[in-house]
Amino acid sequence: MEKRHVISTAQFFDRPILEKLFAVARQMEEQVVRHQVEPVLSGRFMASLFYEPSTRTRFSFEAAMQHLGGSVISTEAAGQFSSMIKGETLEDSIRVTAGYVDAIVLRHPETGAAERAAAVSDVPIINAGDGNGEHPTQALLDIYTIQAECGRIDGLKVALVGDILNSRTIHSLLFLLGLCSDIEVLLISPKQLRLPDKYKQYLDEKHMPYQEFDRLDCLDESIDVMYMTRVQKERFKSVEEYEKLKAYFVVGKSVLSQLKAEARILDPLPRVGTILEEVDSDARAAYFRQARNGLYVRMALLREILKQP
Ligand code: CP
Repeated sequence: MEKRHVISTAQFFDRPILEKLFAVARQMEEQVVRHQVEPVLSGRFMASLFYEPSTRTRFSFEAAMQHLGGSVISTEAAGQFSSMIKGETLEDSIRVTAGYVDAIVLRHPETGAAERAAAVSDVPIINAGDGNGEHPTQALLDIYTIQAECGRIDGLKVALVGDILNSRTIHSLLFLLGLCSDIEVLLISPKQLRLPDKYKQYLDEKHMPYQEFDRLDCLDESIDVMYMTRVQKERFKSVEEYEKLKAYFVVGKSVLSQLKAEARILDPLPRVGTILEEVDSDARAAYFRQARNGLYVRMALLREILKQP
């Protein structure tokens, strides 16, 4: 992975790379817990350039870099506080920033922005979410969490729930599930927010059986992972349409009662009312552990991309 851009999970991740990343992430977790992280990225710099809001991705990347002894330069609300406001193109901002750092973590509202950035960057671009395209590092921490929580990433029945049309985390996760065997997928969304055809074609190519539903009553004890997502307000042209759909699915104790004791509920967060707080104390609620894993997986990723020869 050294010196590679991270744009899409479809791009270059394969099973051995995943397993290597899992092993390094576990090592990172042990080092963080013991407060004994090796400062292997001392003297290296990372820029976080976020044109869209973030809590988890930006903080966990910045914490990851600093745990490893590296330094961070950062702009939140880059669409407001970077030179974009003066008319600078994304490409020029990347060309310039690449002269100051060893890697750029980019979040942008336009699908394809990370690819455009990579085309002009002398340093690795890490896609931290591009519009409703992909969010590859979130998917890596999701699959790591599935491995940690379920003890395997093969032979799983996975329910993907919510705004499947716009969820870049689901798009990226599907490509990683494609590296696993014996996966069955339930796509549960309002009819207006169904998975785009290109991802369904991928499921077909990988011979991954899937079914589409628009209600949560299809959930039963055969489900291993329920992956919940919010309806993405920022992708809607009409506020009225968003208001109609925002609470289409709400997960509370009644939904929990449909799932087996070993099932796990994941959510990339924020949850904005889609999972009630009454669920949080249930052992199946894995979403805060999942967010924590973001630190370890991003430490592993930065270490692998930026390690010295
Ligand atoms: N999961 C995720 O991308 O969260 P943030 O938007 O807070 O980074």
